[in-house]
Amino acid sequence: MKRRPVIAANWKMYKTIGEASSFFSSFLSEPIPNDVEVVLCAPYLCLPTLTKLAESTSVGIGAQNVHWKKEGAYTGEVSIPMLQEIGVKYVIIGHSERRAYFAETDQTVNEKVKAAVQAGLIPIVCVGETWEEREREETKQVVERQVHRAFAGLSPEQMNQCILAYEPVWAIGTGKASTVEDAGEVIAFIRQTIATIGGGQVAAAIRIQYGGSVKPENIATFLAHPDIDGALVGGASLKPDSFRALVAEASKRGDQE
Ligand code: 13P
Repeated sequence: MKRRPVIAANWKMYKTIGEASSFFSSFLSEPIPNDVEVVLCAPYLCLPTLTKLAESTSVGIGAQNVHWKKEGAYTGEVSIPMLQEIGVKYVIIGHSERRAYFAETDQTVNEKVKAAVQAGLIPIVCVGETWEEREREETKQVVERQVHRAFAGLSPEQMNQCILAYEPVWAIGTGKASTVEDAGEVIAFIRQTIATIGGGQVAAAIRIQYGGSVKPENIATFLAHPDIDGALVGGASLKPDSFRALVAEASKRGDQE
């Protein structure tokens, strides 16, 4: 099955509103290929500005986290209706930085994924092992558990609304990307896991990104793998030229198919 590549920026805690606006004008100074899904996941404060700027473009805007309840006494949290009111379409869920520093668990990931798909928000669900887990040869066990728990209680149709991102923790922000062989092997395994949970059709249709030190110079090797459908990019998404180069590489992959 042909799956449309999706290149998503995760800006993490970078960019003020002013910086996000200048990025956007510069990024849009050249046309964006329409065979690639382009997503910018920005800090909450930048989202209203970005969704306005993106209105008449094909760029999707995403948050980097969300609470699963519609409203309530949860100081400091942001709800799905708040995001949807301003036109946010995507949300990163379960990023390893949230798991490591903000007590995100498989359970909260599952609550968030369920609430997001019910509301029609597209979750980008992150999974991946730490270096210690890889050394102990537990990579497959870890991602299998994370995938099972993230999707618990979802129908195959709801799973189909999601994007998955395999981000080995040790490859994030280190400049030390996984090899395409290793990433491809884990991503193919994640696809098999999806097949056991939601069936073959979902497994064939769901997009799985690689993330971790992706750069314009190495993205083509990842995208050449038949199971890798895009990238979730931190550092190399912060400059318009570099992010445009990543999108251009993904568009080339579309041409070859
Ligand atoms: P880097 O691309 O900076 O390694 O970050 C990856 C990441 O965490 C994207 O979510």
